[in-house]
Amino acid sequence: MSNRVSIDPLRVIAPIDARVFGGFAEHLGRCIYGGIYDPGSPRADAEGIRSDVLAALKRLRMPVVRYPGGNFVSGYRWRDGVGPRQERPTRMELAWHDLEPNTFGTNEFVAFCRKLGAQPYIAVNAGDGDMREARDWVEYANGTQDTSLVKLRKQHGYEAPHGIRYWSIGNEVDGPWQIGFKTPEEYARTYTEFAKVMKWTDPSIELVAAGVSLWDRHWVERVQLLMEHAAPLIDYLAIHWYVGNSRERGYRDDDFASYMAVSEKIDDMLGATSGIVRAMRSALKLERTIPIAVDEWNVWYRADAEGRLEETFNLEDALVVAMHFNAFFRHAASVKMANIAQIVNVIAPVMTTSDGVILQTTFHPFELYASTAGDTALDVHWDGATFSTPEFDALRVLDVSATLDRERKQLAVYLVNRSLDQTQTTTIELQRGRFADGGDLHVINGPHVKAANTALTPDQVGVRSHHVDAHGNTLTLDLEPHSVTALVIPVG
Ligand code: AHR
Repeated sequence: MSNRVSIDPLRVIAPIDARVFGGFAEHLGRCIYGGIYDPGSPRADAEGIRSDVLAALKRLRMPVVRYPGGNFVSGYRWRDGVGPRQERPTRMELAWHDLEPNTFGTNEFVAFCRKLGAQPYIAVNAGDGDMREARDWVEYANGTQDTSLVKLRKQHGYEAPHGIRYWSIGNEVDGPWQIGFKTPEEYARTYTEFAKVMKWTDPSIELVAAGVSLWDRHWVERVQLLMEHAAPLIDYLAIHWYVGNSRERGYRDDDFASYMAVSEKIDDMLGATSGIVRAMRSALKLERTIPIAVDEWNVWYRADAEGRLEETFNLEDALVVAMHFNAFFRHAASVKMANIAQIVNVIAPVMTTSDGVILQTTFHPFELYASTAGDTALDVHWDGATFSTPEFDALRVLDVSATLDRERKQLAVYLVNRSLDQTQTTTIELQRGRFADGGDLHVINGPHVKAANTALTPDQVGVRSHHVDAHGNTLTLDLEPHSVTALVIPVG
């Protein structure tokens, strides 16, 4: 059966916020130490940042990076990580049961972000930390007045304020695994009081509330209560999830079709969260909306028994990462930030070895989408072949999104072919305007869905690109089984 994708460049969903290509780095395993920061490595620059890691991450064009956790932040003292390195304390770290040397901290993180071209986004400790500590962190980082914390920052070598715009209050406070887990009522009160003093310290900051990470039967009530208490102080509502082709992650073990149906769950979580925000806006007579920040998302199997959270991703995981971006574009009206968790070594698209970096399969869809997406999400209609799973009936084999770069008049159509063995012949119809000349076709694929990029086989899954001719208003493509295709083409 053939497929038809219909696109009208005037049928707009919303502007796409480039912050959906954000990242997340935590003091965990080899993400910071031995990943981003590795002063002993011949590949490190003068500040100890791995140049090869930086170069790989630059290809992902991350506009924002969240730090320092994660679960880690719920036991973190930011003061431990500033000032002369030889005076910084080593602490027991209870979130991941490790030792934290504190040789990398706030200032080093900001310097890393500047090198990357990303905005720093800090999560404060609302686990075993207090609001005084949180507001002091804002003052230390952003303060301009003649206070002792500002003097301290200057003494540490940072004369100019860092101007950190994004701050979140706590991490996954809804999870019993969290240091300082909070009931909905406790978090609503904590959020309100932290937010007040943090905003009073620097009114220009934007605050992210830790909304949902445990999608249990209480999550709706939790968000409702949080909004009732604190809506005027919330700039973004954060939600987290991790998926994977395993029973542990809520899917059937090694069932490709069920795993591909994850698109439905992603759509549900985004749709339901934005629905609650809308309902509460109406109930509370809020004039502004509260955008969603999916500030942790990824595929995660918890396969690494050593607790370093080092995962090897395969082609099917890359398809799932692509489907995440399709979903973020389709929900562009409400999703204004998303941060892949994490960026280096820990559940990450970039892995380090002593010799260099490995680009995991999931690196490729991230780079492809980040480098080709336009500024506007389009509302695509598509139909054609379907598949079913024990949970879902007649899902479309293709998972699709489209964007328009308004200035360059360039369309990007993203098509994930979720068939294991069938080429999908697909006609893309431009319902208004014409394809101007030809465009570029980029295809991510590999020999089979379990293909992975490792030190021995670094290029099993990659991107192939070629030119396609297109005239008139239709273009027919043969989409390879288990692939991601991006058609990037000017329209007139
Ligand atoms: O990214 C790994 C962990 O996953 C984070 O520390 C935590 O927030 C989430 O549970």
